[in-house]
Amino acid sequence: MSDKDKTPAASAMWGGRFAGGPAAIMQRINASIDFDRRLYAQDIRGSRAHCRMLVRQNILTPEDGEAILAGLDQVLAEIEGGAFPFRAELEDIHMNVEARLAELIGEPAGRLHTARSRNDQVATDFRLWVRDAIDGMAAALKGLTAALLDRAEQHAATVMPGFTHLQAAQPVTFGHHLMAYVEMIGRDRSRLADARARLNESPLGSAALAGTSFPIDRAATAAELGFDRPMRNSLDGVSDRDFALEFLSASAICAIHLSRLAEELVIWTSAQFRFVSLSDAFTTGSSIMPQKRNPDAAELIRAKTGRVIGDLNALLIVMKGLPLAYSKDMQDDKEPVFEAADTMELAIAAMTGMIRDLTVNQAVMRTAAGAGFTTATDIADWCVRTLKMPFRRAPHVAGSLVKMAEDRGVGLEDLTLAEMRTIEPGISEDARAVLGVDSSVASRTSLGGTAPLRVREAVVAARLRLEEDGR
Ligand code: ARG
Repeated sequence: MSDKDKTPAASAMWGGRFAGGPAAIMQRINASIDFDRRLYAQDIRGSRAHCRMLVRQNILTPEDGEAILAGLDQVLAEIEGGAFPFRAELEDIHMNVEARLAELIGEPAGRLHTARSRNDQVATDFRLWVRDAIDGMAAALKGLTAALLDRAEQHAATVMPGFTHLQAAQPVTFGHHLMAYVEMIGRDRSRLADARARLNESPLGSAALAGTSFPIDRAATAAELGFDRPMRNSLDGVSDRDFALEFLSASAICAIHLSRLAEELVIWTSAQFRFVSLSDAFTTGSSIMPQKRNPDAAELIRAKTGRVIGDLNALLIVMKGLPLAYSKDMQDDKEPVFEAADTMELAIAAMTGMIRDLTVNQAVMRTAAGAGFTTATDIADWCVRTLKMPFRRAPHVAGSLVKMAEDRGVGLEDLTLAEMRTIEPGISEDARAVLGVDSSVASRTSLGGTAPLRVREAVVAARLRLEEDGR
């Protein structure tokens, strides 16, 4: 290997055993600074807590401690001001920060890493980062929920067809449909809260893998970093990434919810449906087909769900064969998490915007709600309720009525009483009242049902939950 293929500096960080630098290709595969620089704030926060603890425990002198804290402040300012010299030969964010600290304050910088390893350092930084990502995503989902609740309240009585197999099944209200997503997103937020509670333990002080002989105070660093307690086992502390997997898993499930709603927006905005229109802000036009208004944002939310599912898959596979404790494979834990967090942020924001802005074409929805004999079950239910007909027989009566209407090319409500009586003589004028879509939805008052009354109650209850426990 010629000298120009080697890189300087890294051997200085690894100590005396390494005479030459790594091959350039080694640096490229090994360096993570291009992406893990996103951990800088968490890294400096962790170092500050560690430093203060070392001073309190008389492991560092107060003078060294002050020099380190002041230096870390300057490093933070340089990074945030865009003046920090990131260097690939220093591998990662941890060594970049430490090397710059040494340039700034000299010898005391070399004492900061006492009783610590990059293994517990990176585990701590990453937990702090994922915790922030969870909080950000939970807040964004709260905003989306508020948007859905406003629209659901507005459209508590707006009828539309409810589908099974994408065939018109029974009339529902648009508010009820939106409230289904409020429930799903409520569970997404609850999954994030659960993940956060399990994540919130501090690995700092696990050191390389076995703990340390220095008299550190792990409870103190845990408390300072907002963790509930230190992790109980040092090997576990440096080597599990289940907290990241839980974040990715909750993200993937949430992405699927967003994707299904996005898919519905694509269907509903099509010329064949025209249930809703999206605002100019969330659509694009076509240069050669001027009539088109494309739901690109919805389509991209649907597409990007694939990335988030892939991110979860990627990290599951990274982790599956690793012996305890740390292996460098685990450096590959960050990019999937960063990508998923960025994707979710964008997708949730775009969905919130679309929901807030969309226009509901109530007349079109109403016509569609009644098309396809969607109130056939209502007449069957009427026969059971009023004529005491066995439940299994009633659909046959309703089916014959549908066939009659179909043969004549009319709706169920257009059949005359005399016509209906040729199929079931017990049918009376009041049976015809149940054939309207409004009476159909109004009648579905069972708990969780689509009646406007129930939808309004559900909106009120969901708003309360959103205030109280954030779900
Ligand atoms: N950049 C590394 C990572 O993200 C930091 C930990 C390195 N530890 C080590 N023993 N090489 O995983």
